[in-house]
Amino acid sequence: MEHLFLCPKCKSKTPLPRCKSCGYEIPFEDSIYRFCNDAPVKLDGDKKYIGYDNIGENFEPEVTFWDANNTERYGVYAACADTVAKKFGTHITVLDLGAGLGTASIPLAKNGIYTVAADISAVMLTTAAKRSKGLYDNLILAQMNAYDIMLPDNSMDIVVENAMIHLVDEPELVIREIVRVLKPGGKLIRYSSLGLPVTEEEAKQNAYCNAVLSDISSHFHNYLDSHDYKSAAFNVDYNSVLLQYFESPYNEQAEGFEEVFTEKMKFRLHRLRTGAHSDFQGTRQELLSAAWQAADSYARQKYGNDYADIKGFSRYGAVLNIYTVKK
Ligand SMILES: C[S@@+](CC[C@H](N)C(=O)[O-])C[C@H]1O[C@@H](n2cnc3c(N)ncnc32)[C@H](O)[C@@H]1O
Repeated sequence: MEHLFLCPKCKSKTPLPRCKSCGYEIPFEDSIYRFCNDAPVKLDGDKKYIGYDNIGENFEPEVTFWDANNTERYGVYAACADTVAKKFGTHITVLDLGAGLGTASIPLAKNGIYTVAADISAVMLTTAAKRSKGLYDNLILAQMNAYDIMLPDNSMDIVVENAMIHLVDEPELVIREIVRVLKPGGKLIRYSSLGLPVTEEEAKQNAYCNAVLSDISSHFHNYLDSHDYKSAAFNVDYNSVLLQYFESPYNEQAEGFEEVFTEKMKFRLHRLRTGAHSDFQGTRQELLSAAWQAADSYARQKYGNDYADIKGFSRYGAVLNIYTVKK
């Protein structure tokens, strides 16, 4: 099957890498097709968005762990990819919009599914390339803006979107793009997790971890709020917009998948320490570092120097929220 894209120069349909109509060669650098070179973050004017160039690997603290140990821990994402393959087959084309570090795209490609991993951030895609180790010809890493998806109308069986739509301030424009590229009957799939029963002891341990985290995080935010901090969050209600274009989603649980996670404290602290949060993307690094210093010394005094070792406890399964385009 010939997979077609849109030429960023003349907007004609074309296979990769050279446009059949105008001859433009889509730049291919560091294993990424550069369909655009838009700014990584846009907080002014229309069509604002928050790309993750400044966050990079810090988005997933465990990426360092995966690479160091040469293990692949794709958890919920792998379980959801396996379910997509089982339910829809592997002779499909999937767009992972806002693909980030490739956490959804790589397991889809591993299942043999032709997957376009699109993200505005070249930095995020560079790590996705590193993680995929050049193993999958069926994985296309594409620097694209979700406001202007460089794929033809009716070309995708499925669009996967995880934690991206809240990063645009005009979600309806992006949702219309998703609808445009989906084939008739195509699906939008969003992954989520489902809490599973834990013992009383585990619940107690988890509640303590959450309480400590919330205390430290409040301290961090209080510091920011008493300085010149302004959250970059857009706070738009994209769910109601989704339901204008899609039927109410149905949920499908990934069979046989269950995971236990105890490192919530380390995970969240890493994001605070490195400023790896979309809300912080309009804030000076010095202010974020100072807020971290304040929160860290508060936590050491109150909970002891090894407070980062406090363990949480959650047990969960994986769920796919499946949306069908309204007729
Ligand atoms: C929170 S991360 C989620 C990454 C991935 N979907 C996951 O679940 O691990 C959101 C991603 O959306 C990307 N993004 C933000 N605005 C975008 C836009 N306008 N077009 C394409 N990607 C965008 C960011 O660069 C970032 O990599």
